[in-house]
Amino acid sequence: MGLIRLDKFLADMCVGTRSEVKKLIRAGQIRVDGAVCRLPEKKIDPKLAKVLHGSEEIGYADYEYFMLNKPKGCVSATEDGRYPTVMDFVTEHKRKDLFPVGRLDLDTEGLLLITNDGALAHRLTSPAHHIPKTYEAGVDGIAGEADVRAFAAGLDIGENRLTLPAELVVLKANVISLVRVTVYEGKFHQIKRMFEAVGKPVLSLKRISMGSLILDEGLDPGAYRSLTKDELEGLNCYAQNK
Ligand code: URA
Repeated sequence: MGLIRLDKFLADMCVGTRSEVKKLIRAGQIRVDGAVCRLPEKKIDPKLAKVLHGSEEIGYADYEYFMLNKPKGCVSATEDGRYPTVMDFVTEHKRKDLFPVGRLDLDTEGLLLITNDGALAHRLTSPAHHIPKTYEAGVDGIAGEADVRAFAAGLDIGENRLTLPAELVVLKANVISLVRVTVYEGKFHQIKRMFEAVGKPVLSLKRISMGSLILDEGLDPGAYRSLTKDELEGLNCYAQNK
């Protein structure tokens, strides 16, 4: 990575908006490598420069990757006028340009990747790549072999084509059944529409994996953590090879 402007560095690291950080710089509150710098346009090497705001050192990150266990009742967006967003849960981060990779419905919980890595996000969500996503669902009705076959054959959910073959595992068949389903595409309300198509409305829905990334069950709804090095390498490898 090359040199970047001091004001961009500070704004990217959430010190303030571009105009706020310009004011801080001009007010002499920012030191670069030991000396006060009053030039917002000053070019610095973000990996090497030691930047202080007052006494606080501003560390730099090109990319950040978080796994959130999305709770119900928030939207998978960066801003919303009505509901909390998934970003409200990720309180400790450096970058200002984070976003959720893909969408889970308001009432869906589970695995959501939050990053500013647009290339990885594209590989994980592009329909061309068929990244598997696995969900656990509670459905209204006794799920059985006929449903397993229907999911494997592809379902008519009102699109031009049938859904791609999906893997359905019935974990508990009862008046309300517990199922695990893996899909290789991401149509709007896909899982709910697939179960509607077999007459068993979804009552609860939780995503448990996406590609090689598996929800850490130690994360309560609303909790998040950074991806481990292994998780990130695994996910990059997985997405590259799809
Ligand atoms: N399918 C759905 O119906 N909802 C989700 O949130 C994700 C997949």
